[in-house]
Amino acid sequence: YAQSDYDLWLNYRPVQNTEVAIQYRTVLSKVFFASGSPQLKAAHQELWMGSKGLLNIVPAQVALAQGNLVIGKLNQIGELRKLVQPGDLSDDGFVINTIVQGTRKVVVVSAETDLGVLYGVFAFLKQMQTGKNIDQLNITERPKTMVRVLNHWDNPNRTVERGYAGFSIWNWHKLPGYIDQKYIDYARANASVGINGTVLNNVNANIIMLTPAYIEKAKALADAFRPYGIKVYLSVKFSSPVELGGLKTADPLDDTVKKWWKDKAAEIYKSIPDFGGFLVKANSEGQPGPQTYGRNHADGANMLGEALAPHKGIVMWRAFVYDNNVPDDRAKQAYNEFKPLDGKFNDNVIVQVKNGAIDFQPREPFHPLFGALSQTPLMLEVQLTQEYLGFSTHLVYEAPLFKECLDADTYAKGEGTTVANILEGKYLPKKLTAMAGVANIGTDVNWCGHPFAQSNWYSFGRIAWNPQADAAQIADDWLRMTFTNDERFIKPMKDQMMRSRENAVNYMTPLGLHHIMGANGHYGPGPWTDNIGRADWTAVYYHKADSLGVGFDRTATGSNAVAQYYPEVRDYFGKLENCPDEYLLWFHHLPWNYKMRSGKTLWNEMVARYYTGVDAVKDMQQVWKGMQPYVDPVRFNEVEQLMAVQYEEAVRWRNSCVLYFQTFSKMPIDPKYPKPEHD
Ligand code: GCU
Repeated sequence: YAQSDYDLWLNYRPVQNTEVAIQYRTVLSKVFFASGSPQLKAAHQELWMGSKGLLNIVPAQVALAQGNLVIGKLNQIGELRKLVQPGDLSDDGFVINTIVQGTRKVVVVSAETDLGVLYGVFAFLKQMQTGKNIDQLNITERPKTMVRVLNHWDNPNRTVERGYAGFSIWNWHKLPGYIDQKYIDYARANASVGINGTVLNNVNANIIMLTPAYIEKAKALADAFRPYGIKVYLSVKFSSPVELGGLKTADPLDDTVKKWWKDKAAEIYKSIPDFGGFLVKANSEGQPGPQTYGRNHADGANMLGEALAPHKGIVMWRAFVYDNNVPDDRAKQAYNEFKPLDGKFNDNVIVQVKNGAIDFQPREPFHPLFGALSQTPLMLEVQLTQEYLGFSTHLVYEAPLFKECLDADTYAKGEGTTVANILEGKYLPKKLTAMAGVANIGTDVNWCGHPFAQSNWYSFGRIAWNPQADAAQIADDWLRMTFTNDERFIKPMKDQMMRSRENAVNYMTPLGLHHIMGANGHYGPGPWTDNIGRADWTAVYYHKADSLGVGFDRTATGSNAVAQYYPEVRDYFGKLENCPDEYLLWFHHLPWNYKMRSGKTLWNEMVARYYTGVDAVKDMQQVWKGMQPYVDPVRFNEVEQLMAVQYEEAVRWRNSCVLYFQTFSKMPIDPKYPKPEHD
């Protein structure tokens, strides 16, 4: 295997550019590194590792007054403290300044907290990994959200729900005694992008996780992660007091239930004093919850919040709730359940909302709960594991998808009330802020199953740290750190990454189509899927194709889900003349011969998109072929093979969908296209 595949974006390859290498060597030749906490030690170790890899040098440790590079907390760097321009360093922010002191030039990496220093060191290493001139550094950064957390959907038996990169990296059998080096490298990778928490287990939670034996295992992981500032959280099953505790009920208003959770929390904190808290999936997809006892989400979340509050823990309560037997539009259910509860959640509770109201589709309009809940802290949940985006087989860079949601304007407090601004807590100062990513990590040597899937983990961290960050810039950094700084590679591959999500939308679900994957697995096409016994998933539930047209009418003449948005957004999506092509069939049912903005009929436009999507994958394959000189043979070969599969799958998607929808439209496929074949 290529070692670099395992080492992710922290592979610290030798610097090729000799000009900047001279700068780096000078700076690193004499380093003052403040000593102290395990986090500072971790930072020190990382810098030494980076120096070895990037420059093949071992920095000399010198006294504060001699350092060309000075690293430590502000109260550890003496007089230099007065010369740095830190700005706002709250929430583990950091500063990197080049300071000229007479004839001395010194680079200072500093922060208020140990963890801030660690983040600063990673940022300094990134400068060198991406080949930057470090002559005049003037960087101040602080995270814009407080909790940046991975959600592992990992089960105790090491299977991973919707995991496409092998088995769970948590080796429960060998824990707590054995700490795999992989855990440390996992923590390093997370810290390098600012991730500060991890939910170890699946939201469809197994009660075993709350048994004393598993709490000890979780403690071992928490101990391993602590030097990297990663807190451990657990998903809990709402019925645990019954199933584990032997109580008669899990009713959140019952005193014995409250006590059970309080005691359980105290037990956890005894082992893990900085335990982060609970993630809860309740009353969704068959999971138990407060509604099972006639209570509501706030009752349930607040009861858990009270159990955790004495220990400063938090509850992340998911809004991904629906009952597939409710005949009403599934997209409306979360809003209907949560809107009446706005403002009723305790301070240590945050409601975790997926980017869209259905389920991580290739494209969804932003979730209407963003904006609708104005008194409740909301966090965004995105899915790094590509459940509906071709698993770990398709190259799909997801940052543009995350950004599409974050940049969406809810208009809740007037123009500019973007999801990103809501996430940052601009309208609810001092309340919890957070973002979650469903992890795409497993036991595969390259962690994520596809070398490019690593970019989704990477970009999640960057965007959780700064929801306003730019997807193209993140791709640029990731490519440089992961592969090479050679522009002949960076330019074309960045371009391909930035298009890749739109390509997938085109060959899977163009024009606002959604949830037309095969019910079994969610990988290939299945717009015809029928008879899986669910009210929300009959053959035509989501696309509503018939002889007259196609699309889900979510306007006033249909389910009226669009009414859950603020008036400006309602008009944008709901009025046909405003609705962008990308969301057309999400909100409107339109005749096959409807005239699109392009001048084409809806049918021809749909066909064109499917063909464009497939052609784009072919282009990507061509571009990749030209990248051979810049990539190690192992990764070149991996990506080449995966792209070939992706192409075949894209063709299958296109052919299946075009032929299926043609049975309704009864319209011809332009003969300029290759004829679609049945499988
Ligand atoms: C999707 C996914 C499930 C998962 C669920 C969730 O429906 O298919 O496997 O449990 O999302 O987010 O809870």
